[in-house]
Amino acid sequence: MKIAVIPGDGIGVDVTAEAVKVLARVAERRGLKFEPVFLPWSADHYLKTGETVPPGGFDDLSRNYDAIFMGAFGDPRVPDMKHAAEILLGARFVLDLYVNYRPVRCLDDRLCPLKGFGAKDVDFVVFRENTEGSYVGSGGHLKKGTADEVAVQEDISTRKGVERIVRYAFEFAKKRGKKRVVMSDKSNAMRFVGDLWQRTFKEVARAFPEIEASHLYIDALCMQMVKDPRQFEVIVTNNMFGDIATDLGASLQGGLGMAASGNLHPGRVSMFEPVHGSAPKYAGTGKANPFGAILTAALLLDHLGHPGEAAAVEAAVAACVREGAATADVGGSLTTAAAGDAVCQRLRV
Ligand code: NAD
Ligand code: IPM
Ligand code: MN
Repeated sequence: MKIAVIPGDGIGVDVTAEAVKVLARVAERRGLKFEPVFLPWSADHYLKTGETVPPGGFDDLSRNYDAIFMGAFGDPRVPDMKHAAEILLGARFVLDLYVNYRPVRCLDDRLCPLKGFGAKDVDFVVFRENTEGSYVGSGGHLKKGTADEVAVQEDISTRKGVERIVRYAFEFAKKRGKKRVVMSDKSNAMRFVGDLWQRTFKEVARAFPEIEASHLYIDALCMQMVKDPRQFEVIVTNNMFGDIATDLGASLQGGLGMAASGNLHPGRVSMFEPVHGSAPKYAGTGKANPFGAILTAALLLDHLGHPGEAAAVEAAVAACVREGAATADVGGSLTTAAAGDAVCQRLRV
């Protein structure tokens, strides 16, 4: 496992150290070769050198590594997020990682915030389209800084882009024995893009007659996620709605500190990152919960063909939560590093 590790900014650095610690422990116990290669791409590096991604950087990632692990990006000293756009969104776009795979699973009853529901009731996956939508950077300003200023930001969906993420969601459902796929959009207001999503979803669904295909507008989806999360197995949606729905999903898992994700393109190098951001106020304080990053490492292990090891990491995190060996956001009193150690101690590999 030769892994490009890009901790990034803020608590991204803190939680990545713990994810790498757990990967190293798993590798050592299982006799796997693990070679993390740390890359400095971050706000600090950008402010010092003016460089976000070095020339040929993504080409290097795609040719020379088995996977990429990223922490988080965002620093108050870079208010326009130029480095995050070029590193994080850059990786998603340049490497064409069209599947943003965001499992929403609650690992313990004590993490479930919904009255009358428990961990077993929160277990679904969101597939967020990851290369299009309002993230493509198409648009601009006119008469900037004047009273007549105009700003335009286009929301772009392509037939190919929509079809491949929708198909991926159905194929995942079929492979995992799931019975339902929900597509979520805002086609009542955004009629052109919505129409493309609607038609494509229906066409792809026809090839999967054994799977129930249904639709919810994104506002209704958010409401239903809170009202009764049991109804969901697989959700597929666009880039921005997927971003928002998975922060809500993170809350159903016990908070942003618990949520993991993979940015995938089958057959190519993939990138793994926790769902949360750089939470600058917690950077370096030992308060950041590393479990989202560690569960992200489990997704990486699974992706690289080590499902048993991935399950062991997840079980160790669940044991920590159950026993209160965790950071304060999930009911414990440990530091980031001690929570990482607690996972290592509970690893049954
Ligand atoms: P955030 O996810 O960084 O933090 C929001 C809040 O969630 C925090 O204040 C904290 O209370 C909680 N939180 C998040 N992660 C946690 C953890 N591991 N442990 C404990 N608590 C945690 O979101 P934000 O405050 O909106 O954004 C901060 C910066 O991060 C911004 O610059 C934003 O653009 C960026 N961001 C980056 C990514 C990414 O790199 N993938 C994702 C989201 C936000
Ligand atoms: C995420 C983040 C990013 C996104 C930001 C930092 C651009 O919120 O990965 O969820 O919106 O995709
Ligand atoms: Mn987000």
